[in-house]
Amino acid sequence: MSIAPDRDLLPVIDLRAPSSPCSTGRAALTCRYRCGDACAHEAPNTTTNETFADVMESALSRRSVLRAGAVVGAVAVVGTGLSASPAAAAVGERRRPPGGHHGHDPRRPKGLRFSPVAPNLQDAVVTPTGYDQQVVISWGDPLFKGVPAFDVHRQSADRQRRQFGFNNDFVGLLPLAGSTRLMVVNHEYTSETLMFPGYSAANPTREQVETAWAAHGLSVVAVKEDRRTGALRPVVGHRLNRRFHTTSEFELTGPVAGHPLVRTKADPRGRTALGTLNNCSGGLTPWGTWLTAEENINQYFANAATVTDPVQAKRLARYGIAGTATERKWERFDDRFDIAKEPNEANRFGWIVEIDPYDPTSTPRKRTALGRFKHEAAQPRITDDGHVAVYMGDDERFDYFYKFVSAGTVRKGTSASARRHNADLLDEGTLYVARFTGDSPAIEIDGAGTLPADGRFDGAGEWIKLVSGRRSFVPGMTAEEVLLFTRLAADAVGATKMDRPEDVEPSPRTGAVYIALTNNSNRGATGAAPADEANPRTSNKNGHVIELVEHRADSGATRFAWNILLLCGDPADPKTYFGGYPSRDVSPISCPDNLAFDRYGNLWISTDGNALGSHDGLFGLALEGPERGATRQFLTVPTGAETCGPVIERDRVLVAVQHPGEKDGATATAPASTWPDGPGRVPRPSVVAVWQRNGRSIGM
Ligand code: FEO
Ligand code: CA
Ligand code: CA
Repeated sequence: MSIAPDRDLLPVIDLRAPSSPCSTGRAALTCRYRCGDACAHEAPNTTTNETFADVMESALSRRSVLRAGAVVGAVAVVGTGLSASPAAAAVGERRRPPGGHHGHDPRRPKGLRFSPVAPNLQDAVVTPTGYDQQVVISWGDPLFKGVPAFDVHRQSADRQRRQFGFNNDFVGLLPLAGSTRLMVVNHEYTSETLMFPGYSAANPTREQVETAWAAHGLSVVAVKEDRRTGALRPVVGHRLNRRFHTTSEFELTGPVAGHPLVRTKADPRGRTALGTLNNCSGGLTPWGTWLTAEENINQYFANAATVTDPVQAKRLARYGIAGTATERKWERFDDRFDIAKEPNEANRFGWIVEIDPYDPTSTPRKRTALGRFKHEAAQPRITDDGHVAVYMGDDERFDYFYKFVSAGTVRKGTSASARRHNADLLDEGTLYVARFTGDSPAIEIDGAGTLPADGRFDGAGEWIKLVSGRRSFVPGMTAEEVLLFTRLAADAVGATKMDRPEDVEPSPRTGAVYIALTNNSNRGATGAAPADEANPRTSNKNGHVIELVEHRADSGATRFAWNILLLCGDPADPKTYFGGYPSRDVSPISCPDNLAFDRYGNLWISTDGNALGSHDGLFGLALEGPERGATRQFLTVPTGAETCGPVIERDRVLVAVQHPGEKDGATATAPASTWPDGPGRVPRPSVVAVWQRNGRSIGM
């Protein structure tokens, strides 16, 4: 049934005033549904573990030793031939930038030759001149044959289980036969007021709740390439198409599988969890599987406030699981979302999940060896000696950055035998947490973003071992407890409190690791950790990006050098820094979130929130040569939306446009955006493809 004509004239509201508790321009509605108002509460990390200032004195006494290590070690990065200068902690080498600010200037780095998109508030995906775009797939589109076309007034749980889910985040594009590709997508969360006309937050119906369960999770969908453009068309009914949602089966594997703290009434063996929740970003493995990260899982569990056992209460609090009723009220419809009735269910979420999208009968696995926290992403890199290192951020104010290194080695390729060999590689290994140390005197870190006397926010760092196999390195905690309550373990060893570690991406060319720190408006607040050289701005509203270079490229790397590549914000603001590039020639950027590399070694950054008043966007910047740090905006997304994905291919850019229209006061009947379907329609989270109209490659 098509939408009746009178419904086609929905009022459109545009409430632009930011009212988010996180002070980054994000709508309060987004905060409520995405992270359970994380920024409105005290950060769960209330530890007084060693701060940067505390370690400064000992660090400075060791500085010359570490610095020498950085110089010698940094040149060992995967085949870069980097110079062994004191600046070797940075991948790029500064020379004078060329003049010109033109889109196709051949002096620009390959892949970045486009006219930057200006900041704007258009309810559209805005791309550079000469580029075309297409919506690949939207919330509610059928993945299987026989599923009716999307109709917001006729949504049901049964339909949603067979449709593309809500709020697409991570996107991966895997090879398949010929011009068919396999697209894998996270559906991070649901925004009920935008999904259900007439939704009552106080009294959701069972049908609405079960529809939300089905709209969470993951999609695997085959897509067909249009050889003349960059467009992709979903193949409805392809044999590999799948949906995973809140009642799908997931296997718990690794050291915590079967542990008493993951056993429940429904699963007394502690090995089969139902559902995956709040899947934010992720990564693809070299053996052709997909890693997806369970992030803000705290918001789904009710009645933590009734817990009286102090040990359990401390564990729940450190993960932000608090209060009584939840926003979505799922606990009314399934006891497992009620901590008072099922105390261990929450322990079965907050993991990295591995999926084999090529096997339509495979059960996804929650890999407990990679620890449990608010996982933002998981990006693997093969070490020189053949192990897999997985880098991971915990996206919470003042939380940490981690690395897992597999015990076993990777068999190269994607043959059946290689895939079998690698299938359980992520079940045994060593989990580390990062400690960052600055090399400038603490007094030079003024909290305003002023560069210290040595001209850089930089220093040394170490990976602190938390657990290896079933051996704990944290006094008073078993290996299983370290993996289940990884935040508490990291607190105990003095990890560095960071400004919300979001996505992480190792450069396929240099091996350097890039970390997006999205923002932390509480940095330096009364009672909170002060600014330090790795998080150098108080009230950090615009975020920053760190470049990390390990001293060794093998699995034994426990030391690294680091520097701040970007201090984001308005380039006119002296508190910003763009890899040393002149700020007059860069695009404003705020709240870096997801990261990706293109084939030329350029870093691409998508944003989540914008403290500068523009819509979110996607940016590219070179890391090497005279253009290092020259940040250029490639696109912006519609009203209220966040830019997720992204995938940067030679001839196509894919972004997931998440939560379009998520502005305070907006509802399904009074939407703040009508993207992508136009007037009279509700906004729909969608994956978008962008390509150059003249047939040239992206940025060429
Ligand atoms: Fe789901 Fe940390 O963004
Ligand atoms: Ca410094
Ligand atoms: Ca994110």
